[in-house]
Amino acid sequence: LAQSLAPQDFGGVRMVVTAGPTREAIDPARFLSNRSSGKMGYCLARCGARRGAEVVLVSGPTTLETPPGVKKISVQSAQEMYEAVVAQAQQSQVIIKAAAVADYRPEKVYEHKVKKGSVESSLRLVSTTDILKSLGTRKSPDQVLVGFAAESRNLHEEGKKKLIAKNLDLIAINDISKPQTGFEVDTNQVVLLDNQGYTQLPHTTKLHTADLILDRILTLLKDR
Ligand code: CTP
Ligand code: CA
Repeated sequence: LAQSLAPQDFGGVRMVVTAGPTREAIDPARFLSNRSSGKMGYCLARCGARRGAEVVLVSGPTTLETPPGVKKISVQSAQEMYEAVVAQAQQSQVIIKAAAVADYRPEKVYEHKVKKGSVESSLRLVSTTDILKSLGTRKSPDQVLVGFAAESRNLHEEGKKKLIAKNLDLIAINDISKPQTGFEVDTNQVVLLDNQGYTQLPHTTKLHTADLILDRILTLLKDR
């Protein structure tokens, strides 16, 4: 019912959404990860599909159900997410990177569980690929590339730096310093930034925030 009542303003649009954390293995029992629940990304995928888009959701491990009409590809590591997203990117007009990708991974993955006292207590880390930045360098002119920025201070400046550095069309800047707008909760308050400037969205549900972000994306798509 919700499907048929929603405006089909994304009809014919192929959209890739990434969501959730990534897990970077240390050994068969352990990994490095972060507090992302995946809720914001899943809301975007749900709203996109409801509005008629053909949505592929590339998701790290979450406890969330796949929204109706969405094709989900499950991944674990940043590298797996990179490969899945790049495979989808070319055929997609809209790419939204809501995932909290780990910035570092252990330099080596131990084949067997590391035993207490068997290795030195420090982990050597190396950088993961910046998926969004890599998409920005190969973006086609008809594509709308959307990133998120998780910030705990200087939101406007930090968001702007990322928009420029990653060649994005839109960035949703998220204040993770407040308990009601960050990880795990169902509400959010983001600041959008595109070439028209900053827009403060209201403090509202992640589902409503998703629709407001999609409204902006639609405007950008129509300008293509
Ligand atoms: N991102 C990505 N690949 C990475 C790291 C981040 O695609 N390896 C994407 C995220 O999905 C998000 C955007 O980049 O859309 C910004 O992520 P964020 O963690 O806020 O910024 P970073 O560029 O990683 O910088 P920092 O963590 O130092 O603030
Ligand atoms: Ca990061």
